[in-house]
Amino acid sequence: MIKVLNIVGARPNFMKVAPIIREMRRRGGDFLPMIVHTGQHYDARMSDSFFADLGIPEPDFHLEVGSASHAVQTARIMMAFEPVVLREKPDWTVVVGDVNSTIACALVCAKLGVRIAHVEAGLRSRDRTMPEEINRLLTDAISDLLLTTSEDADANLLAEGIPAEKIKFVGNVMIDSVFYNLEKSKSSTIREELNLEEKSYAVTTLHRPSNVDEKEVLAGLLDALVAVGEKMPVIFPVHPRTRRNIESFGLAERIENSGVRLIEPLGYLDFMRLYSGARLVLTDSGGLQEETTALGIPCLTLRENTERPITIQLGTNRLVGTNPENIKSAAFEILENDSPQNAKIPPLWDGRAAERICDALLKF
Ligand code: UD1
Repeated sequence: MIKVLNIVGARPNFMKVAPIIREMRRRGGDFLPMIVHTGQHYDARMSDSFFADLGIPEPDFHLEVGSASHAVQTARIMMAFEPVVLREKPDWTVVVGDVNSTIACALVCAKLGVRIAHVEAGLRSRDRTMPEEINRLLTDAISDLLLTTSEDADANLLAEGIPAEKIKFVGNVMIDSVFYNLEKSKSSTIREELNLEEKSYAVTTLHRPSNVDEKEVLAGLLDALVAVGEKMPVIFPVHPRTRRNIESFGLAERIENSGVRLIEPLGYLDFMRLYSGARLVLTDSGGLQEETTALGIPCLTLRENTERPITIQLGTNRLVGTNPENIKSAAFEILENDSPQNAKIPPLWDGRAAERICDALLKF
């Protein structure tokens, strides 16, 4: 029986950890899983609703660190997490993704000699101005078991000198959650509430500091969305950081009376119901690039780079940057072209990654 601390902190962690916890509980003779929520995200809409939608049990430990600068947030997580590790003496800590909670908890365990498994290892944007890229590089450097979602990630890790024995290609656990919940999401009434017909609207999300923290960049992106909004409604569930900046930069007027509809962040099932029926998704999210690929929905990524190239090579994703003209022409091209996409689902994005993660932990 191995005792595992599973770390969650921010919104994109919840759908990755849910299938792992479910599988560990199913194999109760082999695993004693515990959940640590760092509290990096704390709003009901950014956190609690995901526990309910995804059926994640109550966390065993809640560190309640909240928002702060990167250094302060990372340090607070480390200070609050260290006593938990000392008391619980886990055999493994499982961290997912690339948020501050990921690196903070990995660093604590590395110093205490507790084994670390990193789920979604090896992704690289090669853009070190992204906080997530720093978190990815450092977490991978100190993890004992690197569990990857695609083979390009294995190649990145090998090129950084990580021994092949530590790397295991297990597939994409986030896609486990997509397939597990797709049917359930049909009970959501979000499309009816927003009065939307399937394939007759676009969905957008924006929250990266590089896109929303500078007025000119954010204004250009909103202008591009307004142009798309002339063709069809653009539904925009707004991250708290983005909401704050739209208001403080005085940009709210730009989208007033346009086809862009700002709404509050949605829960997992409502959001799945929304994007799964969209004609087009425009986003700077990492996870949504993968989710749209899994469901064959056209996606424009409003960034200059992506750590998820497989979604472009095999899937429905296209990298268009942040120039408003480029975004508009790419969006119009998709809206005018009705032919079905030739997209493929990447290897091992099959809904069974959590099983392979558990196998890898037992075998290590
Ligand atoms: C974090 C992750 C990012 C991930 C994103 C998903 C890091 C470095 N970044 O970015 O990779 O894509 O989560 O959402 O870990 N806030 C609230 N309520 C909340 C949480 C945040 O109002 O529940 C506001 C606060 O003003 C806070 C700001 O959002 O200062 C940013 O939150 P933070 O967790 O620092 O980073 P995110 O931008 O959410």
